Amino acid sequence: MLRFGIQILLLTLAIAASAERDPHDFSFERLNRRNMLTNGMATDNSAVPTEELDPYYWRKMASVEIQKRLVEQPNTNRAKNVIFFLGDGMSLTTITAARILKGQRDGKPGEESQLAFEKFPYTALSRTYCTNAQVADSACTSTAYLTGVKTNILSLGVGPKVNYNDCEASMDPANDLTSLYDWAQAAGKSTGFITTTSLTHASPSGGYAHVANRFWESDTDVRTYLGDNYTTNCVDIATQLITEEPGRNLDLIMGGGMGKFLPKTMIDKFGNPGERSDGKNLLSEWQRRHPGGVLVSNRKQLQALNINQTTSVIGLFQSKLMNYHLHATEGEPTLSEMTETAIKFLSKNENGYFVFIEGGLIDYGNHKNTPGITLDETIEFEKAVELTRNLTSTEDTLIVVTADHAHPLSISGYPVRGNNILDINKISYDRNGVHYATLNYAAGPKQYLDESGKRLELEGQFGDADFVFPSYISTDDGVHSGEDVVVYASGPWQHLFGGVLQQNTLPHLMAYAACIGEGAKSCADMAVHS
Ligand SMILES: *[C@@H]1O[C@H](CO)[C@@H](O)[C@H](O)[C@H]1NC(C)=O
Ligand SMILES: *[C@@H]1O[C@H](CO)[C@@H](O)[C@H](O)[C@H]1NC(C)=O
Ligand SMILES: [Zn+2]
Repeated sequence: MLRFGIQILLLTLAIAASAERDPHDFSFERLNRRNMLTNGMATDNSAVPTEELDPYYWRKMASVEIQKRLVEQPNTNRAKNVIFFLGDGMSLTTITAARILKGQRDGKPGEESQLAFEKFPYTALSRTYCTNAQVADSACTSTAYLTGVKTNILSLGVGPKVNYNDCEASMDPANDLTSLYDWAQAAGKSTGFITTTSLTHASPSGGYAHVANRFWESDTDVRTYLGDNYTTNCVDIATQLITEEPGRNLDLIMGGGMGKFLPKTMIDKFGNPGERSDGKNLLSEWQRRHPGGVLVSNRKQLQALNINQTTSVIGLFQSKLMNYHLHATEGEPTLSEMTETAIKFLSKNENGYFVFIEGGLIDYGNHKNTPGITLDETIEFEKAVELTRNLTSTEDTLIVVTADHAHPLSISGYPVRGNNILDINKISYDRNGVHYATLNYAAGPKQYLDESGKRLELEGQFGDADFVFPSYISTDDGVHSGEDVVVYASGPWQHLFGGVLQQNTLPHLMAYAACIGEGAKSCADMAVHS
């Protein structure tokens, strides 16, 4: 009786509310009434896959999960190989939405789908803040997850005592941090990295560069940032990669950013001038230091690479960043193609290898508020992880997948099961009767408001992968967010990856599993027993 009374009251309110607007808009009145009664939720189950209608389906699924955990034996083998996958800006919502899109591309509702790394048996949370910032950038986080020490925002490979843009302090070896690259090299392992951004971008360089500003990518950049304080003592990131430890010892490096390695007087393989003011050709320098090394600059050359006869590889597939997978040129390899070559190449070393593989454009898609791009980049990243797990054994190869920081992307409202994740939520409305998308950002370039500040109806406007999704706060570019990110682990010592971890703990766990670096001390006992 009471419930009936409330419904009558809600109905009355609904009619009253809609009456204020347009009494002739019957569809709006009907929809708004429905909205008030069900909070805009889908109430029929026509989109539910048949098998899910049976409670047994859910009970069986749970029992399979329990069995899997009961038979699991701790894998305490030494990790001969460590493969570290980093999805830049790959927040948990990005992962959930990518999982849904993957399923929807297969013609399924999508929510039930699973990404390859979501099958990994162990997960942890990673706390991403930097020493002087609540919300991190990709430089301080790279320093944390590659060297094991948290540092200041925009800093790479130097400790938190070094101030932003302070050249002198950053060139003091006392402030240098060693990384997984150094530790693996000292143990006789092969090392390398792959990125879809540029070789001198923040994520890979936290492990090899030692700079007080991530933007010192070429000497021209250093001059721009230091102005009158510029001295040649201040070594740019590209030069550090080719001439200093541990960069110069890397066996394989691939990505974009050729311009940072060539003088302005030269035209690169893509028809663009180099960016360096000091006249140096760092690619000739690399070749001089790696006589058996091969430079590849397109997919054909990558596939033709004679892995057995090549001692080092540098791949540069664009002047600046590589293109999004959806916009890639014929000559640009995919992340999976680069990854496959890298794993085969690095596997030649009987002491094993450490490789860092970055899906760097996930972050760019999120900054542009284009989930059509971001989710596709995430699915490409996932393919590379799946391929890598297929090519390697859980007996001797630890794979860790994580993100550096999150993005304020939300999955909101109550869209019906299987609702296109890249479209409007068809059944939910705001207080003005205007639809909203399932995916929204906190900040970005487009709010889609009319002159009076009312949200515009966007139904029918989605569909292009480059469509800019709505955000709340008007900024030129989307921003990062500060919540924790997820870590997924598979292989030797996978069970160490659990709980809520500080991000800088990750390389220490990897080092322990591989018995390298600082990890070599703590795992010495374990080696004796096994
Ligand atoms: C490369 O070396 C591996 C291992 O020795 C061998 O199995 C493979 O056939 C070689 N490939 C080529 C193209 O020579
Ligand atoms: C990995 O192996 C599985 C099982 O054999 C296969 O279905 C899948 O296509 C493989 N994935 C890749 C990316 O090679
Ligand atoms: Zn970013």
